[in-house]
Amino acid sequence: MAENWTPQSWRAKPAKHIPEDYPDSAALDRVVDSLRRKPPLVFAGEARQLTARLAKVAAGDALLLQGGDCAESFAEFHADSIRDTFRVLMQMAVVWTFAATKPVVKVGRMAGQFAKPRSSATETRDGVTLPSYRGDIINDMAFEAAGRAPDPARLDQAYAQAASTLNLIRAFAQGGYAALANVHKWTLDFLDKSPQTRRYQELADRISEALDFMKACGIDAAVAPQLAETEFYTSHEALLLPYEEAMTRVDSTSGDWYDTSAHFLWIGHRTRQLDHAHVEFLSGVKNPIGLKCGPGLDTDELLKLIERLNPKNEPGRLTLIARFGADGVAAGLPPLVRAVEKEGKAVVWVCDPMHGNTFKTEGGYKTRDLNRILEETRSFIEIARAEGAWPGGVHVEMTGKHVTECVGGPAGVTEADLHSRYHTHCDPRLNADQALELAFLVAETLRDVRVSDAAARAAF
Ligand code: PEP
Ligand code: CO
Repeated sequence: MAENWTPQSWRAKPAKHIPEDYPDSAALDRVVDSLRRKPPLVFAGEARQLTARLAKVAAGDALLLQGGDCAESFAEFHADSIRDTFRVLMQMAVVWTFAATKPVVKVGRMAGQFAKPRSSATETRDGVTLPSYRGDIINDMAFEAAGRAPDPARLDQAYAQAASTLNLIRAFAQGGYAALANVHKWTLDFLDKSPQTRRYQELADRISEALDFMKACGIDAAVAPQLAETEFYTSHEALLLPYEEAMTRVDSTSGDWYDTSAHFLWIGHRTRQLDHAHVEFLSGVKNPIGLKCGPGLDTDELLKLIERLNPKNEPGRLTLIARFGADGVAAGLPPLVRAVEKEGKAVVWVCDPMHGNTFKTEGGYKTRDLNRILEETRSFIEIARAEGAWPGGVHVEMTGKHVTECVGGPAGVTEADLHSRYHTHCDPRLNADQALELAFLVAETLRDVRVSDAAARAAF
């Protein structure tokens, strides 16, 4: 941490994508002040534990699965949505654990993913121009002047929703639902006939058989509690810094600052300027953090950012989230991975195959093609291996809901289908079927890589 860092020091730096036009700035100060006195959402010890888990990913001994909504919303807040996203992440993690025989660190884009950077500050419809929607923690999605003004009361509502989401996640993770014995029950009803589900069920059968065998040998949840629960962490983009500042507290055990709004926070593609507010803020908190790496980031700048964000080169502290797009990854990623490897920087590399693959259909829907998403993910794994780095996992926008937001995939969602269940508050998400297809692709690619690495070792 820089010597003069404080939770407020970001305020002296330029900050992009934080609204400056709160109509009542005193009201914002009051909300921030009251948030400062509210209980933390996560504990420093949990964040430290996540850093330790991520250190294993950095060393190539585990995988990271990070996923959830592009933007959580107040309107769609429901226990069923939380449960369904949770169970799809559990399914994806099981697929990976089985294929890679490595632990999977599970991190939701949940319980706090409310603020969005937007490419344009304003939106124009039929000759009317209003401020852009910036996420439910800031303003309202409806295209009406009153709702588009930033409203400080939304910080309170976001905090309350994050708290109850986290409460339910903790219950799912530790209260029995995540027990491996439930591996069959995580399948979503509407997916009964999908090929991905059949594939998943076959795998679940094999896991159940293995569990029965272990039980016969005397190993069950009573002696191995990890069979009965899971670790599940939360994350979001640390964009709305007044909120993050209010949630930042000194940990009484270590004396370090932690942002207690989530276990893991990341810096977005549009706010990663070295001398700006977002980098300043996250440089000083001890949570594990992420940095989006995409087109325009050169190796010098990346190495400076790594130095700034992880000066002690602590494994697990920093995750680099590559989001180049299927067309850009082959040119953009290798120089970065090579430079990081050459400098001996201990980072986790994961692929966000969503944000570089967005396009607009003729019908005006923002969408992504699953084939491009799979293509980028496969390239990412191959590039990382070719450069001697561990392909640590993926960061995806997905939901357990039966949406039609991305095209392609086993159920053959087409551009004409997008209107039927297009519910996202920001970017298009993978539905459960598409997310499972991605999980299987990663599992297969990792297996191919393992086989070819073993062959290379044997030849040597
Ligand atoms: C996001 O993750 O929702 C996002 C806005 O990504 P990026 O910063 O990579 O564009
Ligand atoms: Co997004």
